[in-house]
Amino acid sequence: MNDEVVSYEIRERVGIITLRNPPVNALAPGMREGIIDLVKAANENPAVDAIVLTGAGRNFIAGADIRQFGKTRAVTSRTSAAAIEASEKPVVAAMDGYCLGGGLEHALACHHRIATPAARLGLPEIKLGIIPAGGGTQRLPRLIGAAAALDMILSGRQAGADEALALGLIDEIATGDLVAFAAGVARRIALERPLRKTSALTAWRTADREKPEIIEMARQAAARKKSPLKAPGYAIELVAASLSVDVDAGIALEHDRFSELEDSDEAKALRYAFFAEKTAGKIPGIAKPPAGDGVRSAAVVGGGTMGSGIAIAFADAGIPVKMLEATPEALKRGMERIRSTYDARIRRKRLTPAQMQERLARIEPASRYESIGDCDAVIEAVFERVDLKMDIFGKLDVVMKPGALLLTNSSAIDINVMARATKRPGSVAGAHFFAPANVMKLCEIVAGDATTIDTLGRAAAMGRALGKISVVAGSCDGFAANRSRAPLVTEMMLLLEEGALPWQIDKVMMDFGYPMGPFAVSDLSGLDVSYDTRKRRAAADPDYRKLHVPDRLVEMGRHGQKNGAGWYRYENNDRTPRPDAVVNQVIADIAREFGIPQREFTDEEILHRLLFASVNEACKIVDEGKSFRASDIDAMWLNGFGFPRHRGGLMYWADGIGAPAILYQVQAWHERYGKRWKPSPLLARVAGENGRLREAVAPETAFLPSLVPQPSTHSTK
Ligand code: 3HC
Repeated sequence: MNDEVVSYEIRERVGIITLRNPPVNALAPGMREGIIDLVKAANENPAVDAIVLTGAGRNFIAGADIRQFGKTRAVTSRTSAAAIEASEKPVVAAMDGYCLGGGLEHALACHHRIATPAARLGLPEIKLGIIPAGGGTQRLPRLIGAAAALDMILSGRQAGADEALALGLIDEIATGDLVAFAAGVARRIALERPLRKTSALTAWRTADREKPEIIEMARQAAARKKSPLKAPGYAIELVAASLSVDVDAGIALEHDRFSELEDSDEAKALRYAFFAEKTAGKIPGIAKPPAGDGVRSAAVVGGGTMGSGIAIAFADAGIPVKMLEATPEALKRGMERIRSTYDARIRRKRLTPAQMQERLARIEPASRYESIGDCDAVIEAVFERVDLKMDIFGKLDVVMKPGALLLTNSSAIDINVMARATKRPGSVAGAHFFAPANVMKLCEIVAGDATTIDTLGRAAAMGRALGKISVVAGSCDGFAANRSRAPLVTEMMLLLEEGALPWQIDKVMMDFGYPMGPFAVSDLSGLDVSYDTRKRRAAADPDYRKLHVPDRLVEMGRHGQKNGAGWYRYENNDRTPRPDAVVNQVIADIAREFGIPQREFTDEEILHRLLFASVNEACKIVDEGKSFRASDIDAMWLNGFGFPRHRGGLMYWADGIGAPAILYQVQAWHERYGKRWKPSPLLARVAGENGRLREAVAPETAFLPSLVPQPSTHSTK
């Protein structure tokens, strides 16, 4: 037994098994063995009447250790859970904090379950492309019914203690000290027999057998979602099996299905995505900022689409926010925008009117700069106009308290320009949200040349507090996220000139796994949005390759969904994109005008042309130190651009093809199309070593030379 991860003590005839693997008590090697040994020891000890299973610190068990998947395990959760259930003395689960995956499955095998009000219970395996493998698919339906079990297993969501109690997932909510409470209960039930074994429960099983529609509805809902993953189908099959076969047969089937999924491509990609996101917000050289440094109040300058979305993100996260606008009319429009977003959520039953009032109460309209000065952070979210932004940062410099974060939501303007408008450039950074800001999970934290590590760390923590994935980038044209996607956009436009059609390209990308094709997305955000930027770039750069097709469509007044025509046409307020012969004609005209030869494209060529362009750019971004690591680009694509999660991310996907093959193709396109395909030195290096692109990191000398640790200047008021 491993003493470090499992400990045992006897308190007044109750054996207390404590699992310890900070920070979240993931099931480390040795824990399952420890549980088996200690349950046996407690059963053999006449001085022990009952057992409590608990976790050290503030969590029960957050599930299997994800790093151990794919490795051989001496003992599996199904075996240790079975040992708990088979115990002749009652085992009581005492749960605080996270009680997830294999953790909840061990609790399900206990004879009694107690949780603190702070407990969070769930089976998140589906998010990792797998299914519960510690008997969860068989015990959960027997305990809470097939419908509730399917909901929890298929969504992977967490239930709080109150909900868990209502579902019958736990037996009671602890008051006072958890372990003392659980030991008291254990003593109370010590002599009660027979023990309540979850596997032997029949009430729900009998009731559910009469309702085959529960399984059928789950199957239909899964079919509608068109998930590329196998796990949801298997989970439904296993819950169905829990109603018809005995528990041993069910658990054997669960084991078979899990073994098949554990090392599947999709599960590997989803595990990679989990860790890419966890790593993304980390800044080399600094630990997470201490809890006291969090942003507890914020202000947003600008109440437009982005500003109001950001204000909602704060209000949703429980952080009070002030919204500053220049005129009472603009402020009123901003507040109306917020209200209508909440109204829509109420209509979709995602929010109650009472919750809406609570959140609205956190958003305070403001009309004077002085009134936002006491906030911990301010985010400027006005139009992309340099003079306007410089003026705002000058004003913020005057009013904001020392140590406040001065952030800009700009997606295009150099952070250093805003920083120079203040006397505290170290406190200035980008906090680039993606539209709609209250929905999209990416928050790109952008460092200017003078931004301190302290500012970056606190801004990244702020993003996390908003429920976002914070990823740090350096300041350059488009920063890391948009800059890495820009070549994809260029190629999709140029493919049109060569003979591909928008709907063909969209289909290729949707078949790949995107929820929408890139042209349909462009119709949603509006073709006009990037028109001015393109004109500016064309004026500034003599080598700029003009994108004739979108320019022409904008000049024809086709701005996208908002006016019923863009890449597609839209009818009668319907959002369904319909191919439009006018677009075919525009493309054909342009090809003729510029004498561009036409040809047919295979799906693979389209996919590679779009994504290799971005892989090459992402390599340049990492090499230049504008991203700390290639996996940060993956976290950005997954959370900002809808990249299919089961493919891991852009760079992870690229590794599936291999750097040498990508380099070969990039070189060929470089010869054919010229400068824009110049291979990145990093791509060439990784290809030469036959290495992994996803493991590439920025050279230490390249990233943000100004990021030397500096004394913290922020107030802790
Ligand atoms: N395995 C390995 N490491 C884990 C882990 C796990 N299951 N859960 C969390 N960690 C690590 C994180 O990577 C992070 O490490 P770091 O500090 O080095 O970056 C650290 O623990 C803290 O995690 P977070 O920063 O994510 O802390 P939060 O408080 O924000 O979130 C959490 C905690 C909700 C537990 C979140 O980490 C999470 O969702 N973890 C995954 C839980 C999960 O999927 N469990 C099921 C595993 S599958 C299973 O159990 C199979 C079974 O059926 C046999």
